[in-house]
Amino acid sequence: MIFDTHAHYDDARFDEDRDAVIASLKENDVRHFVDVASDLPSIEKVERIVEKYPESYGALGIHPSELDGVSEKDLKEIEEKIRNNKRIVAVGEIGLDYYWEENPPHDVQKKFFRYQLEMARRLKKPVIIHSREAAQDTFEIMKEMRAEEIGGVVHCYSYSKEMAKEYVKMGFYIGIGGVVTFKNSKKLKEIAAEIPLERIVLETDCPYLAPSPHRGERNYSGFLPLVAAEIAELRGVTIDEVCNTTYQNALRLYNV
Ligand code: NI
Repeated sequence: MIFDTHAHYDDARFDEDRDAVIASLKENDVRHFVDVASDLPSIEKVERIVEKYPESYGALGIHPSELDGVSEKDLKEIEEKIRNNKRIVAVGEIGLDYYWEENPPHDVQKKFFRYQLEMARRLKKPVIIHSREAAQDTFEIMKEMRAEEIGGVVHCYSYSKEMAKEYVKMGFYIGIGGVVTFKNSKKLKEIAAEIPLERIVLETDCPYLAPSPHRGERNYSGFLPLVAAEIAELRGVTIDEVCNTTYQNALRLYNV
């Protein structure tokens, strides 16, 4: 059984064939996915997805690159939506993204990150962390906000092995997807081989980041057996063990 802990089936790239794609997931043993919001328009789309597809759960939050025009009132509304919908299982994706030079400014990103961490604490929901080229600031804010009491996953993990171990110590899960199958992902392969399997969850981030040999294509949860196979090979265990353990991890992560 496979649990895709991070998908974006609300994305326009699934508008043509969303029903068919989601119906096909069971052919690849994918039992559940969490559809993750990123910007304001995606909030309602995620709500529609969880209403329509029984195998789905949702996460609501604002991505650090999508903060333009987002007000405190918007965040209060998101908090109420999460409180009133049992199928929304996490706050996300939230975090810091310094890839685009000061856009939005770092202090704005940090303010919203702290706010949404506090929101997750009030809601008693785990967080889905997006962090790109902001390793130190992300870690410092999570320490400062005592994120170990909130829990969650560092999605599409892209930092050092040492930092992965720090997040594991904090009780966080490490989200691993298609990138681990790329030839040049030496660092991530080491992490996938060495951190406890009990702390790894599978994710697509679809439609992005399809695994080899589908790199560059539209991604979907049906490609996750390729990710599981890579992790199994790196660890010297069976694919079944990777799928079943990460499935149980996902249930624990999202309290479902
Ligand atoms: Ni994502």
